[in-house]
Amino acid sequence: MATIIKWIFISALGIFVVLELVAIPTLAKQTNPSVVQEPNWDSEQTRSLARRACFDCHSNETRWPIYSRIAPIAWVVTDHVIEGRQALNFSDWGAFDEEAEEFAEVINEGKMPLPDYLKLHPEARLSAAEKQQLIAGLYATVNNSPGQRHEANDGTQRNERETDGDDD
Ligand code: HEC
Repeated sequence: MATIIKWIFISALGIFVVLELVAIPTLAKQTNPSVVQEPNWDSEQTRSLARRACFDCHSNETRWPIYSRIAPIAWVVTDHVIEGRQALNFSDWGAFDEEAEEFAEVINEGKMPLPDYLKLHPEARLSAAEKQQLIAGLYATVNNSPGQRHEANDGTQRNERETDGDDD
């Protein structure tokens, strides 16, 4: 009996080690590129709400906790951040053409922040009042940053990246 338990333990350990080795290329993607340009925030309050609830996946200032380095969680977290940054990146605002209505929609419907993420990040949970503050603040911020929204039409590299973002 003791031998069986020993072998179960050794196999589980072996599988774990293999998983962690396979995950090494994923860990290499867990980076924070430098900030290009944030929107022209209407207030520090809007930025701090967005920072609390959105920045982990929609900015270049992602916090990568210890568990995010451990497979299989590492794969899920890395995908969320890469896909999140492609959809919307507050650290590279000029590359996106975000509609304020869309922010209101995803926040009001509880789609964002991702519900799975909130289970591990209670600090990112917004009260009803905070949600409305963030939505109002993002409306004002989008209005505050009109120049950048046109930049997307000038045929530069940003234009291509914006098209990428719209593909999903
Ligand atoms: C745990 C990661 C995570 C967090 C936190 C998060 N998002 Fe997202 N978000 C994603 C991912 C992944 C996508 C792309 C796939 C999708 O639409 O589900 C996305 C897509 C979006 C989109 C759609 C963009 C487009 O053009 O298609 C909006 C808008 C958005 N998020 C807003 C927010 C806001 C606002 C917050 C904070 C209140 C937030 N998100 C927090 C992961 C996240």
